[in-house]
Amino acid sequence: MSTVPLDDDALNQTLSEARELRDEFQRFLHEYEFGMREIETKISILRDEFTHHHSYNPIEHVKSRVKSPDSIVEKIARRGIEPDFASIRQHITDIAGVRVTCSFVADVYRLFDLLTAQDDVTVRIVKDYIAAPKPNGYRSLHAILEVPVFLSSGPIMVPVEVQFRTIAMDFWASLEHKIHYKFQGQVPAHLVGDLTAAAEAASELDARMERLHHEAHAPLAVLPLDV
Ligand code: GTP
Ligand code: MG
Repeated sequence: MSTVPLDDDALNQTLSEARELRDEFQRFLHEYEFGMREIETKISILRDEFTHHHSYNPIEHVKSRVKSPDSIVEKIARRGIEPDFASIRQHITDIAGVRVTCSFVADVYRLFDLLTAQDDVTVRIVKDYIAAPKPNGYRSLHAILEVPVFLSSGPIMVPVEVQFRTIAMDFWASLEHKIHYKFQGQVPAHLVGDLTAAAEAASELDARMERLHHEAHAPLAVLPLDV
């Protein structure tokens, strides 16, 4: 491809258009960051309220991220999405992501219920991979939630992907992710089988830990008096 040198005016025009695009992309990403912060605040308020008023903290940790420009571009290409802001907004719903790791499965559902019962939270999609795990054993409760963000120009609704899981599910998913990455998606069959078995074991551990937790917190049995 041959290129024609630009004169000063054309160069200035191109530069100003490129800067406008950069600014628009930054504004676009900021909207997601603000939506993510709204969800983070809601979760941290729930956590503090539980801790102070119920003497129990159902959340182990919370991690958030805004998808990197490289990952957004990769998803646009992989899914054949039109590379304009409107269609990216419509089709890529995990630009803002919050992962809430809970102690027990019951806490996962409790947190989900409390968050989605809030008046300003709209549920767009729920995928319950705990009730119906993926074939590889992946478990988590996913929700695309929309929250309003109040900008100087007015309110906008921002989608945020929230993943709720237990520590055991998180442990499994993080190892599976590393293995997937190492083998670039072509994981040897025996490892896939072992991973699925490990997911089952993690799920059994979750059930066992929850039973233990309930037993430990059950009211003490009243012993009959010796007469
Ligand atoms: P993506 O294109 O990856 O966003 O998937 P999707 O739009 O089909 O949504 P889905 O709800 O299935 O998965 C969304 C996210 O959940 C992924 O980006 C991962 O963070 C996580 N996830 C889903 N499946 C797996 C899995 O098999 N292993 C691991 N480690 N994570 C998973
Ligand atoms: Mg994703």
